[in-house]
Amino acid sequence: MTTYRYTLEGDMPLGKSDLFRLFNNYRVYKYIIELLVDLDITDLSNYRILEPGCGDGNKLRFFTELRAKPENCYGLEISSNSVDLCKSLSPNKMQFIQGSALDMPFEDEFFDIVLCSGLFGCFNNEKDIRVISSELSRVLKKSGILFVLDLNENFNSIYSGNAHVMAKGFNTFDSKGGELEALLEEFTVISIIPAFACEHYGRFDRTPAQVIDLPRIDASIDAGERLCGYTLWTFFKKLE
Ligand SMILES: C[S@@+](CC[C@H](N)C(=O)[O-])C[C@H]1O[C@@H](n2cnc3c(N)ncnc32)[C@H](O)[C@@H]1O
Repeated sequence: MTTYRYTLEGDMPLGKSDLFRLFNNYRVYKYIIELLVDLDITDLSNYRILEPGCGDGNKLRFFTELRAKPENCYGLEISSNSVDLCKSLSPNKMQFIQGSALDMPFEDEFFDIVLCSGLFGCFNNEKDIRVISSELSRVLKKSGILFVLDLNENFNSIYSGNAHVMAKGFNTFDSKGGELEALLEEFTVISIIPAFACEHYGRFDRTPAQVIDLPRIDASIDAGERLCGYTLWTFFKKLE
């Protein structure tokens, strides 16, 4: 496996061109960066970040490449195996906690950014999603950023031939109908973009999908020749 390093050497501020040069090939990261740049945020050294349902923790490690401090990055996971995996792959100071997104063990308004990637697809009832929405709103600071990456209406047709993925029984969300946005009542949508290609699961055979192993941009999706099964939303906490 090829290993790529993204870290900029030295203390120079991360500029937009540096970010795209470093991350452009990685669709999900590219769009997260694009949204952050739109918000004029290119240095996360003073941001406290949470990923509920963090899996192997790859996206938290990505945020440290944007200068988030490991001690300010928190992963909350229902699976103790995932917590162990995160700890084995991540900097020591990163914080991984076993617990549920339905009842987050954090103070009110503790985080600047929360990223939920594939979390809502684990729930098949609206009540739980609304409970998580209210927990997210509670732990985010006012005007905090919420990134949501989840499965869209294309997902099942793309993965119908993949028994490993289908066996997981993920819930999908109709992005054109605003299904998930309607459930996340405390938040306002900033962007809706197709996020990344389906090779991810093709290569995800329980080997940890580290920062280095995320899918490269698939030009056929950009050209509209192929569907994308994931959608990236950005929400802000509502102003009170
Ligand atoms: C589809 S995986 C996504 C993993 C990771 N976010 C990523 O993008 O690679 C969903 C994760 O959510 C976790 N999860 C499911 N229900 C949860 C809950 N109630 N609280 C916290 N984590 C949960 C699962 O264990 C799993 O690791």
